[in-house]
Amino acid sequence: MPVKAYRSALIHSIANPRDVGSDASYRYFEDGLLLVEDGHVVRVGDAQALLQDLNGVDITEFPNALITPGFIDTHIHYPQTGMIASYGAQLLDWLNTYTFPAEGAFHDRDHAAKTAKVFLDELLRNGTTTALVFGTVHPQSVDAFFEAALERRLRMIAGKVLMDRNAPDYLTDTAESGDAESRALIERWHGKGRLAYAVTPRFAPTSSPEQLALAGTLFHDYPGLYMHTHLSENVQEIDWVKALFPERSGYLDVYDHHNLIGPRAVFAHGVHLCDAECARLGETGSAVAFCPTSNLFLGSGLFDLEQAETHGIRVGLGTDVGGGTSFSQLRSLSEAYKVMQLKGQNLDPFKALYLATLGSARALYLDDRIGNFEAGKEADFIVLDYQATPLLGFRLQHARSIAERLFALITLGDDRVIKATYALGEKVHDRDDGRPVSA
Ligand code: GUN
Ligand code: ZN
Repeated sequence: MPVKAYRSALIHSIANPRDVGSDASYRYFEDGLLLVEDGHVVRVGDAQALLQDLNGVDITEFPNALITPGFIDTHIHYPQTGMIASYGAQLLDWLNTYTFPAEGAFHDRDHAAKTAKVFLDELLRNGTTTALVFGTVHPQSVDAFFEAALERRLRMIAGKVLMDRNAPDYLTDTAESGDAESRALIERWHGKGRLAYAVTPRFAPTSSPEQLALAGTLFHDYPGLYMHTHLSENVQEIDWVKALFPERSGYLDVYDHHNLIGPRAVFAHGVHLCDAECARLGETGSAVAFCPTSNLFLGSGLFDLEQAETHGIRVGLGTDVGGGTSFSQLRSLSEAYKVMQLKGQNLDPFKALYLATLGSARALYLDDRIGNFEAGKEADFIVLDYQATPLLGFRLQHARSIAERLFALITLGDDRVIKATYALGEKVHDRDDGRPVSA
């Protein structure tokens, strides 16, 4: 495979700003070059310097643009694509009124396949190249999703929902059938291409202790499996968990007791965690997905990033579509900034970049494969257009630094900013395909 070169301004994270300070957390090249061979990063650096050693390389140039690693979404529901933006309810009513009926339709494999296609198109249009994804209770929902992701050679993680109580009959499995169906899916998909499987109990209220126990055993039965669930999102939900599991010391303890914690366990939301729960998540190497658009839309609360990181929790960024209101991680970051303002905290643009890329890769234990442009990593990257909208273009005429430009992209940007998306070195989305070329 010939080496390909992409020339543009270019930025990537190399560390958590919390650990090294913002200025040492990234590398930025005003005139950068990304060299890709066989789907992987060969080198990244200053274009002038690198081009001296290169002869006959095919160079794609992106003027007025910024290349970054592809965004990573650590919590999203593909079956909720068709019910995003459902009005007027908080978590438990929202699940009963909108979510469960929508998920019921995924017994139909064709419906699942059509939705998986729309979902993946939408992720790529928004610059997201890897996601940790909920299916529904139906194993065929996961088959349809993985089939579509495999065809596009994407790095994706997903699983069948385990749910054996407190949900409509048409959406429940049993402890035994859920375990058997999950095992069959793992045998079929886990480790195929760039796919991995996540054991996916929906949340504590919809699984019996028997189902949670089997899920905990399953999680440790195959190397590299994920565990994906919800935790401490909403105050009524937390009260319900306490009533259902009076023998446990709290919500997290329900999962901990059933061995559903540790590296590659990802808990969505964690809006109302106490210090002891944060400490336990941190010491076990578990991750929390910060889902700002969802936490605001469903009125769940304000996530405390400072508290989570103080306790060493790996924090990733999630859209939580359809509780979340956008597939765009730029929109997630913009809302995260506002949430943190209300908490008296700051989200600087380099920390924001870290959260959407390397930080999320670390939350998923994938930072040896994706998250930045270190040599050898998979070439999943995006091209952000500084002139995507008239307002962005005008604002950037007044920007003097990469910090200002990045912050404006985050605050004003969305799918319109994503000019192109590449996965394993191949273009998988081109915003301008089919658009008339303007002068
Ligand atoms: N808790 C249990 N199920 C869900 C879901 O589908 N979305 C969100 N946001 N929270 C949940
Ligand atoms: Zn969710």
